[in-house]
Amino acid sequence: MPLSNCKIVLTGGSGGIGRRVSSLLLERGASLTTISRSADDPLPGMRHFHADLSSASGLQAAASLVEDEEPDILINLAGVQNFGPFEEQSPSDVRDTYSINLIAPVLLSRAALPAMKRKKTGQIVNVGSILGSIGFAYFSAYSSSKAGLRIFSEALRRELNGTGVLVTYIAPRATRTGLITSRLQQYADLTGMAIDDPDRVAGQIVRSIESGKTDVYFGTAERFFVKLNGFMPRLVDSFLAGNDRKASQIFLQKPHSTEGIKS
Ligand SMILES: NC(=O)c1ccc[n+]([C@@H]2O[C@H](COP(=O)([O-])OP(=O)(O)OC[C@H]3O[C@@H](n4cnc5c(N)ncnc54)[C@H](OP(=O)(O)O)[C@@H]3O)[C@@H](O)[C@H]2O)c1
Repeated sequence: MPLSNCKIVLTGGSGGIGRRVSSLLLERGASLTTISRSADDPLPGMRHFHADLSSASGLQAAASLVEDEEPDILINLAGVQNFGPFEEQSPSDVRDTYSINLIAPVLLSRAALPAMKRKKTGQIVNVGSILGSIGFAYFSAYSSSKAGLRIFSEALRRELNGTGVLVTYIAPRATRTGLITSRLQQYADLTGMAIDDPDRVAGQIVRSIESGKTDVYFGTAERFFVKLNGFMPRLVDSFLAGNDRKASQIFLQKPHSTEGIKS
């Protein structure tokens, strides 16, 4: 969809990827409203709506905004990640992960759909992760929240076939933003995990939206492993076992410590 004069609502516009996506959307002439808890140093021309997507009231307020705005494109980009042994993650961190990464995109899509269907045009963009297709050890809540978002996107895309409303699911791999904490960097160093430049990732996201793609997975090796995991998951278990052993060493260094990121 051409982005010039397009009305867009974007969650997570204050983050490492979101700020760059916002800047590219504004450069292309979009009319942009962002949703997040903070908007330090807002970009010129951008409107900001303050909402905490981990709370029921914040989510309700954000959904009302989407209903009123009737955006041409809704981009669900806000996300949080916890890296660590699952049982050491607090119940509230686990709840927030599902609320921000899965419930918020689902309810905001619901709020955007009536106007899109009435106008017979629109696009819902859900930003997931490669980890939404391959369950990674020490990312249990995050992986499963993004897997839910992936299947939601697939089901909704099929449901909306013929309505003029597109659904795009975009799965980046690791990207250098605030989500890459020192412990995750340690994991990347130990396992050789690639970390992408956020400018490049933002550019790819915006081009994928413009070209109306349905599914976008970043990284050649990652695309291969996503496919392999679909039909030979036990083989992928054995490929990942070495990484999982290395990761477990990180948590042995400091027992009972888990990294929770709430941006
Ligand atoms: N970086 C990576 O390695 C990577 C890889 C694959 C996929 N992704 C996905 O890409 C998306 C963007 O990630 P990023 O790397 O840009 O992360 P980031 O820099 O940490 O940004 C996260 C964004 O989510 C918003 N957010 C967090 N908690 C929120 C809450 N309770 N209510 C409302 N908004 C909230 C933050 O805004 P406030 O703090 O202002 O509320 C911020 O705008 C996420 O969905 C992430 O899962 C990232």
